[in-house]
Amino acid sequence: MRVVEFCNELLKKINKEEYIMNNRELLKFAEEARKNAYVPYSNFHVGAALLTKSGKVYTGCNVECASYGGTNCAERTAIFKAVSEGEKEFEKIAISSDNKGETYPCGICRQVILEFGRDIKVVVGESEGENKEISIDELVPYGFTGADLNK
Ligand code: THU
Repeated sequence: MRVVEFCNELLKKINKEEYIMNNRELLKFAEEARKNAYVPYSNFHVGAALLTKSGKVYTGCNVECASYGGTNCAERTAIFKAVSEGEKEFEKIAISSDNKGETYPCGICRQVILEFGRDIKVVVGESEGENKEISIDELVPYGFTGADLNK
């Protein structure tokens, strides 16, 4: 995690107005975070990197539990870390797993991403290879949101 912490410190110093992190860089953060995955049961490592609208990056990994339902996915770890630090405005989230190429978020994580905005982008792929960006709105068509509760 030292590399990620170093990068976060660096990002704080960069003029946020001028610097927009690109998808490859964000995927690199996700790849770094993947190394911390706690996966004694699946051995499937996942990392995520969440970019806030203010330019900060929160990373997450999957954390498994012997009682499997207690497992938390990488994407939700990153989001919960950010929200617990007072962040709610998100630009995009990058995901990296042991699989080559693209890994898309699971249904529960899609719902949690959607909770914070229809326009949040999901970035999949590899920092040194191809990457693809797709909005959470496209990944969750006809999604249920807080707006439905106010009807
Ligand atoms: N996993 C994630 O972290 N994110 C996803 O979007 C898909 C699944 C984790 C959960 C579990 O630790 C392992 O991958 C196998 O399902």
